[in-house]
Amino acid sequence: MKKTVTLLLCAVSFLLSCCAVSHKNPQETTAAIETAESSLEMQPVERKTTATVETAESQDSLSTETSQEDVDPDQKMIALTFDDGPEPVNTPKLLKLLKKENVPATFFLVGQNVDKYPEVVRSIADYGQGIGNHTYNHQDLTTLNEEQTRDEIEATDQAVKKITGEKPKYFRPPYGALNSSAAAWINRPIIQWSVDSEDWQSKNQQLIIEKVISTAYDGSIILLHDIHEATIAAVPEIITTLKNEGYSFVSLDTLLDHPETNENYYGKNDHRPID
Ligand code: NI
Repeated sequence: MKKTVTLLLCAVSFLLSCCAVSHKNPQETTAAIETAESSLEMQPVERKTTATVETAESQDSLSTETSQEDVDPDQKMIALTFDDGPEPVNTPKLLKLLKKENVPATFFLVGQNVDKYPEVVRSIADYGQGIGNHTYNHQDLTTLNEEQTRDEIEATDQAVKKITGEKPKYFRPPYGALNSSAAAWINRPIIQWSVDSEDWQSKNQQLIIEKVISTAYDGSIILLHDIHEATIAAVPEIITTLKNEGYSFVSLDTLLDHPETNENYYGKNDHRPID
């Protein structure tokens, strides 16, 4: 009986080892080859991975303001600004246009429109475009008392912050109108402009194009309004023409070299105390 059991056990273990050999060996061989291949490829693979990450990062930053730091400071520069939005039809159209051309811009938003169209504000931020404060009710601040002024600024800051997590770092007064007490309270760079498209007046695609092209200069800040269809229609030709004239479109950060002081900024190297 014992012999039979021993024999059986031997037979079973022989069969098992046969199975193990026939199945295990090819697996081991494949595994060994794979290990050898991966160790051979270890360094190139690592380098490839690093390169891929770097490429992804630089592609990401193309649409953000940071990439603008790479712009040659001797190159002709220009910054686009769009006021009075967001607007639910025209602003999203414009965002796509700017993305296609890889052009940065700053949107000076009116607080009440921010509250009305939060998803458009979200898109502006997602597209990596700049956001500025343009008061809550598009008020001429020189006609308001301090408390009213504070309300206009604060309500807009909060409306934007609720969506993007950050309060706008730039301010543009409606009509460019500002006195020193309001400016001191606003306490951030005041972005004026140097090229007025007069789009709100003409609302004419061709006239907007001509006005901007004929008055643009190196270092200028262009004033447009993304609430008008004619403005959006004018943007592609404005971009193409000025690019052909050698201009780089840059963010306000780049054009104004990271402004911090509570002054009026009209363009590159052009800022003046508020009086
Ligand atoms: Ni305005």
